[in-house]
Amino acid sequence: MKIITNLSELIEIRKNLSEPVGFVPTMGYLHEGHLSLVRQAKQDCNNVIVSIFVNPTQFGPNEDLNSYPRDLERDCSLLREVGTDVVWIPETNEMYPENFQTWVIVNNLTKPLEGARRPDHFRGVTTIVAKLFNAVQPNKAYFGQKDAQQAIVIKRMVKDLNYPIDIVVCPIVREPDGLAMSSRNTYLSEDERNAATVLYRGLNAAKDLFERGVHDADKIRTIVRKTIEAEPLAKLQYVSCADPHTLEELVGEFSQSLLSIAVFVGKTRLIDNIVLQKKN
Ligand code: PAJ
Repeated sequence: MKIITNLSELIEIRKNLSEPVGFVPTMGYLHEGHLSLVRQAKQDCNNVIVSIFVNPTQFGPNEDLNSYPRDLERDCSLLREVGTDVVWIPETNEMYPENFQTWVIVNNLTKPLEGARRPDHFRGVTTIVAKLFNAVQPNKAYFGQKDAQQAIVIKRMVKDLNYPIDIVVCPIVREPDGLAMSSRNTYLSEDERNAATVLYRGLNAAKDLFERGVHDADKIRTIVRKTIEAEPLAKLQYVSCADPHTLEELVGEFSQSLLSIAVFVGKTRLIDNIVLQKKN
Protein backbone atom coordinates (compact mmCIF):
# COMPACT_ATOMS: atom_id res chain seq x y z
CA MET A 1 0.00 0.00 0.00
CA LYS A 2 1.39 3.36 -1.04
CA ILE A 3 0.88 6.33 1.29
CA ILE A 4 1.35 9.71 -0.35
CA THR A 5 0.72 13.36 0.37
CA ASN A 6 1.73 15.33 -2.75
CA LEU A 7 -0.69 15.94 -5.58
CA SER A 8 2.07 15.50 -8.18
CA GLU A 9 2.95 12.09 -6.73
CA LEU A 10 -0.71 11.04 -6.81
CA ILE A 11 -1.01 12.03 -10.47
CA GLU A 12 2.17 10.09 -11.33
CA ILE A 13 1.01 6.92 -9.55
CA ARG A 14 -2.49 7.18 -11.03
CA LYS A 15 -1.04 7.00 -14.57
CA ASN A 16 0.21 3.47 -13.98
CA LEU A 17 -2.87 2.02 -12.26
CA SER A 18 -4.98 -0.44 -14.21
CA GLU A 19 -8.66 0.44 -14.44
CA PRO A 20 -11.29 0.40 -13.10
CA VAL A 21 -9.97 2.64 -10.35
CA GLY A 22 -12.28 2.99 -7.34
CA PHE A 23 -12.11 5.99 -5.02
CA VAL A 24 -13.30 6.44 -1.44
CA PRO A 25 -13.00 10.00 -0.09
CA THR A 26 -12.96 10.23 3.74
CA MET A 27 -12.04 12.53 6.60
CA GLY A 28 -10.34 9.70 8.46
CA TYR A 29 -10.81 8.26 11.95
CA LEU A 30 -12.07 5.27 10.07
CA HIS A 31 -14.69 2.79 11.22
CA GLU A 32 -16.62 -0.11 9.68
CA GLY A 33 -18.82 2.34 7.75
CA HIS A 34 -15.82 3.68 5.85
CA LEU A 35 -14.29 0.22 5.49
CA SER A 36 -17.52 -1.13 3.96
CA LEU A 37 -17.06 1.39 1.14
CA VAL A 38 -13.46 0.30 0.62
CA ARG A 39 -14.48 -3.38 0.57
CA GLN A 40 -17.17 -2.66 -2.03
CA ALA A 41 -14.61 -0.73 -4.10
CA LYS A 42 -12.18 -3.68 -3.83
CA GLN A 43 -14.85 -6.01 -5.17
CA ASP A 44 -15.68 -3.77 -8.12
CA CYS A 45 -12.29 -2.36 -9.10
CA ASN A 46 -8.70 -3.30 -9.97
CA ASN A 47 -7.26 -0.53 -7.81
CA VAL A 48 -8.63 1.37 -4.85
CA ILE A 49 -7.55 4.85 -3.76
CA VAL A 50 -8.69 6.24 -0.39
CA SER A 51 -8.21 9.88 0.56
CA ILE A 52 -8.03 11.14 4.13
CA PHE A 53 -8.52 14.88 4.46
CA VAL A 54 -10.33 16.82 7.18
CA ASN A 55 -11.66 19.43 4.80
CA PRO A 56 -11.74 22.79 6.57
CA THR A 57 -14.16 24.47 4.13
CA GLN A 58 -17.06 22.18 5.00
CA PHE A 59 -16.97 23.07 8.72
CA GLY A 60 -18.85 26.11 10.02
CA PRO A 61 -17.12 28.65 12.31
CA ASN A 62 -18.73 27.10 15.42
CA GLU A 63 -18.25 23.49 14.34
CA ASP A 64 -15.72 20.86 15.35
CA LEU A 65 -12.89 21.31 12.79
CA ASN A 66 -10.20 21.60 15.47
CA SER A 67 -11.49 18.81 17.68
CA TYR A 68 -12.40 16.45 14.80
CA PRO A 69 -10.83 13.09 15.78
CA ARG A 70 -7.66 12.11 13.92
CA ASP A 71 -5.51 8.94 13.99
CA LEU A 72 -3.62 8.51 10.71
CA GLU A 73 -1.54 5.58 11.91
CA ARG A 74 -4.57 3.53 12.86
CA ASP A 75 -6.38 4.58 9.66
CA CYS A 76 -3.48 3.38 7.51
CA SER A 77 -3.24 0.03 9.24
CA LEU A 78 -7.02 -0.54 8.80
CA LEU A 79 -6.75 0.44 5.14
CA ARG A 80 -3.81 -1.91 4.64
CA GLU A 81 -5.84 -4.79 6.16
CA VAL A 82 -8.70 -4.30 3.68
CA GLY A 83 -6.33 -4.19 0.71
CA THR A 84 -6.25 -0.51 -0.21
CA ASP A 85 -3.74 0.21 -2.99
CA VAL A 86 -3.11 3.93 -2.46
CA VAL A 87 -3.83 6.24 0.49
CA TRP A 88 -3.70 9.93 -0.36
CA ILE A 89 -3.40 12.31 2.58
CA PRO A 90 -3.41 15.77 0.99
CA GLU A 91 -2.02 18.78 2.78
CA THR A 92 -4.29 21.73 3.44
CA ASN A 93 -2.03 24.28 1.72
CA GLU A 94 -1.95 22.18 -1.44
CA MET A 95 -5.73 21.76 -1.53
CA TYR A 96 -6.34 25.41 -0.61
CA PRO A 97 -3.41 27.53 -1.80
CA GLU A 98 -3.23 31.16 -0.78
CA ASN A 99 -5.89 33.31 -2.44
CA PHE A 100 -8.10 30.28 -3.24
CA GLN A 101 -11.39 31.58 -4.64
CA THR A 102 -13.05 28.98 -6.83
CA TRP A 103 -16.09 27.04 -5.63
CA VAL A 104 -18.40 24.34 -6.93
CA ILE A 105 -21.98 25.00 -5.84
CA VAL A 106 -24.97 22.70 -6.29
CA ASN A 107 -28.04 24.87 -5.92
CA ASN A 108 -31.50 23.64 -4.89
CA LEU A 109 -30.56 20.25 -3.44
CA THR A 110 -28.27 21.88 -0.87
CA LYS A 111 -30.91 24.29 0.47
CA PRO A 112 -32.99 22.06 2.80
CA LEU A 113 -31.99 19.65 5.62
CA GLU A 114 -28.26 19.77 6.38
CA GLY A 115 -27.77 22.75 4.08
CA ALA A 116 -30.34 24.81 6.01
CA ARG A 117 -28.56 24.18 9.33
CA ARG A 118 -24.97 24.21 8.08
CA PRO A 119 -24.55 27.20 5.75
CA ASP A 120 -21.72 26.69 3.23
CA HIS A 121 -21.24 23.06 4.31
CA PHE A 122 -22.12 21.58 0.92
CA ARG A 123 -20.15 24.24 -0.96
CA GLY A 124 -17.13 22.90 0.93
CA VAL A 125 -18.05 19.27 0.23
CA THR A 126 -18.68 19.68 -3.49
CA THR A 127 -15.57 21.80 -3.98
CA ILE A 128 -13.24 19.34 -2.26
CA VAL A 129 -14.86 16.30 -3.89
CA ALA A 130 -14.51 17.95 -7.31
CA LYS A 131 -10.83 18.66 -6.60
CA LEU A 132 -10.26 15.09 -5.40
CA PHE A 133 -12.07 13.70 -8.47
CA ASN A 134 -9.94 15.87 -10.77
CA ALA A 135 -6.76 14.49 -9.23
CA VAL A 136 -7.76 10.83 -8.79
CA GLN A 137 -9.82 10.48 -12.00
CA PRO A 138 -11.64 7.44 -10.65
CA ASN A 139 -13.98 5.26 -12.70
CA LYS A 140 -16.14 4.69 -9.65
CA ALA A 141 -16.50 6.62 -6.39
CA TYR A 142 -18.10 5.32 -3.20
CA PHE A 143 -20.29 7.24 -0.76
CA GLY A 144 -22.38 6.19 2.25
CA GLN A 145 -26.16 6.43 2.58
CA LYS A 146 -25.37 7.68 6.11
CA ASP A 147 -24.95 11.14 4.55
CA ALA A 148 -27.95 10.78 2.27
CA GLN A 149 -28.13 14.41 1.14
CA GLN A 150 -24.38 14.45 0.44
CA ALA A 151 -24.73 11.41 -1.85
CA ILE A 152 -27.63 13.04 -3.72
CA VAL A 153 -25.74 16.31 -4.10
CA ILE A 154 -22.61 14.54 -5.38
CA LYS A 155 -24.65 12.58 -7.93
CA ARG A 156 -26.12 15.87 -9.18
CA MET A 157 -22.68 17.48 -9.40
CA VAL A 158 -21.33 14.52 -11.38
CA LYS A 159 -24.22 14.76 -13.86
CA ASP A 160 -24.10 18.53 -14.16
CA LEU A 161 -20.32 18.74 -14.64
CA ASN A 162 -20.08 15.64 -16.90
CA TYR A 163 -17.68 13.71 -14.70
CA PRO A 164 -17.31 10.22 -16.24
CA ILE A 165 -17.61 8.67 -12.78
CA ASP A 166 -20.08 6.09 -11.55
CA ILE A 167 -21.29 7.07 -8.04
CA VAL A 168 -21.98 4.03 -5.85
CA VAL A 169 -24.01 4.59 -2.67
CA CYS A 170 -23.52 1.95 0.05
CA PRO A 171 -25.88 1.11 2.94
CA ILE A 172 -25.53 2.53 6.47
CA VAL A 173 -23.37 0.39 8.77
CA ARG A 174 -24.73 0.35 12.32
CA GLU A 175 -23.55 -0.69 15.77
CA PRO A 176 -25.31 -3.79 17.18
CA ASP A 177 -27.81 -1.52 19.02
CA GLY A 178 -28.66 0.36 15.82
CA LEU A 179 -26.60 3.54 16.23
CA ALA A 180 -25.21 4.52 12.83
CA MET A 181 -21.41 4.41 12.91
CA SER A 182 -19.81 7.85 12.84
CA SER A 183 -16.41 9.31 13.70
CA ARG A 184 -18.35 11.76 15.89
CA ASN A 185 -19.71 8.96 18.12
CA THR A 186 -16.39 9.16 20.01
CA TYR A 187 -17.56 12.52 21.46
CA LEU A 188 -20.38 10.78 23.40
CA SER A 189 -20.15 10.07 27.15
CA GLU A 190 -21.41 6.69 28.30
CA ASP A 191 -24.87 8.06 29.16
CA GLU A 192 -25.05 9.94 25.88
CA ARG A 193 -23.94 6.86 23.96
CA ASN A 194 -26.88 4.94 25.46
CA ALA A 195 -29.28 7.80 24.73
CA ALA A 196 -28.05 7.99 21.12
CA THR A 197 -29.92 4.78 20.26
CA VAL A 198 -33.02 7.00 20.20
CA LEU A 199 -32.23 8.09 16.63
CA TYR A 200 -32.64 4.61 15.24
CA ARG A 201 -35.58 3.89 17.57
CA GLY A 202 -37.33 7.01 16.26
CA LEU A 203 -36.77 6.02 12.64
CA ASN A 204 -37.91 2.46 13.31
CA ALA A 205 -41.08 3.60 15.07
CA ALA A 206 -41.91 5.50 11.88
CA LYS A 207 -41.07 2.49 9.71
CA ASP A 208 -43.40 0.27 11.79
CA LEU A 209 -46.20 2.82 11.48
CA PHE A 210 -45.62 3.11 7.72
CA GLU A 211 -45.67 -0.67 7.32
CA ARG A 212 -48.96 -0.81 9.25
CA GLY A 213 -50.45 1.37 6.51
CA VAL A 214 -50.01 4.92 7.81
CA HIS A 215 -48.58 6.79 4.83
CA ASP A 216 -49.24 10.37 5.88
CA ALA A 217 -46.07 12.49 6.03
CA ASP A 218 -47.16 14.51 9.06
CA LYS A 219 -47.99 11.41 11.07
CA ILE A 220 -44.63 9.90 10.17
CA ARG A 221 -42.76 13.05 11.26
CA THR A 222 -44.82 13.22 14.48
CA ILE A 223 -44.00 9.71 15.67
CA VAL A 224 -40.28 10.37 15.15
CA ARG A 225 -40.52 13.69 17.03
CA LYS A 226 -42.40 12.08 19.95
CA THR A 227 -39.95 9.18 20.26
CA ILE A 228 -36.99 11.55 20.34
CA GLU A 229 -38.64 14.01 22.73
CA ALA A 230 -39.05 11.15 25.22
CA GLU A 231 -35.25 10.89 25.59
CA PRO A 232 -34.06 13.58 28.04
CA LEU A 233 -30.46 13.72 26.74
CA ALA A 234 -31.58 14.18 23.12
CA LYS A 235 -32.75 17.33 21.36
CA LEU A 236 -34.29 17.02 17.92
CA GLN A 237 -33.00 19.62 15.45
CA TYR A 238 -35.13 18.49 12.52
CA VAL A 239 -37.14 15.59 11.22
CA SER A 240 -37.78 15.52 7.50
CA CYS A 241 -39.98 13.25 5.42
CA ALA A 242 -38.98 14.30 1.92
CA ASP A 243 -39.10 13.29 -1.70
CA PRO A 244 -35.95 11.15 -2.10
CA HIS A 245 -35.07 12.78 -5.43
CA THR A 246 -35.86 16.49 -4.92
CA LEU A 247 -35.57 16.54 -1.09
CA GLU A 248 -38.76 18.64 -0.98
CA GLU A 249 -40.84 18.08 2.15
CA LEU A 250 -43.83 15.79 1.52
CA VAL A 251 -47.41 16.71 2.41
CA GLY A 252 -50.19 14.14 2.88
CA GLU A 253 -50.00 10.57 1.59
CA PHE A 254 -46.79 9.36 -0.04
CA SER A 255 -45.41 6.10 -1.41
CA GLN A 256 -41.68 6.79 -1.10
CA SER A 257 -39.66 9.06 1.16
CA LEU A 258 -36.30 9.81 2.68
CA LEU A 259 -36.94 10.10 6.42
CA SER A 260 -34.01 11.94 7.92
CA ILE A 261 -33.16 13.47 11.29
CA ALA A 262 -30.53 15.55 13.04
CA VAL A 263 -30.38 15.25 16.82
CA PHE A 264 -28.15 16.80 19.46
CA VAL A 265 -27.17 14.27 22.10
CA GLY A 266 -25.51 16.50 24.66
CA LYS A 267 -23.31 18.76 22.51
CA THR A 268 -22.80 16.16 19.79
CA ARG A 269 -24.82 16.50 16.60
CA LEU A 270 -25.81 13.17 15.05
CA ILE A 271 -27.66 12.43 11.80
CA ASP A 272 -29.44 9.32 10.57
CA ASN A 273 -32.01 8.31 7.96
CA ILE A 274 -34.04 5.53 6.42
CA VAL A 275 -35.89 5.20 3.16
CA LEU A 276 -39.60 4.40 3.38
CA GLN A 277 -41.06 2.68 0.36
CA LYS A 278 -44.50 1.13 -0.23
CA LYS A 279 -44.28 -2.53 -1.17
CA ASN A 280 -46.24 -3.53 -4.26
P1 PAJ B 1 -16.60 11.09 6.27
O1 PAJ B 1 -17.59 11.61 7.27
O2 PAJ B 1 -15.27 10.64 6.74
O3 PAJ B 1 -17.30 9.93 5.49
C1 PAJ B 1 -16.67 9.32 4.37
C2 PAJ B 1 -17.68 8.43 3.69
O4 PAJ B 1 -18.07 7.38 4.59
C3 PAJ B 1 -18.98 9.19 3.33
O5 PAJ B 1 -19.39 8.81 2.02
C4 PAJ B 1 -19.95 8.72 4.39
O6 PAJ B 1 -21.31 8.77 3.99
C5 PAJ B 1 -19.49 7.29 4.62
N1 PAJ B 1 -19.94 6.79 5.93
C6 PAJ B 1 -19.77 7.37 7.14
N2 PAJ B 1 -20.37 6.64 8.11
C7 PAJ B 1 -20.97 5.60 7.50
C8 PAJ B 1 -21.76 4.49 7.95
N3 PAJ B 1 -22.09 4.33 9.21
N4 PAJ B 1 -22.19 3.60 7.02
C9 PAJ B 1 -21.88 3.77 5.70
N5 PAJ B 1 -21.15 4.78 5.22
C10 PAJ B 1 -20.69 5.68 6.10
O7 PAJ B 1 -18.41 12.39 4.25
C11 PAJ B 1 -17.28 12.85 4.40
O8 PAJ B 1 -16.31 12.24 5.17
C12 PAJ B 1 -16.81 14.12 3.70
O9 PAJ B 1 -17.91 14.98 3.55
C13 PAJ B 1 -16.13 13.87 2.33
C14 PAJ B 1 -17.09 13.23 1.33
C15 PAJ B 1 -14.87 13.01 2.50
C16 PAJ B 1 -15.68 15.25 1.74
O10 PAJ B 1 -14.81 15.91 2.60
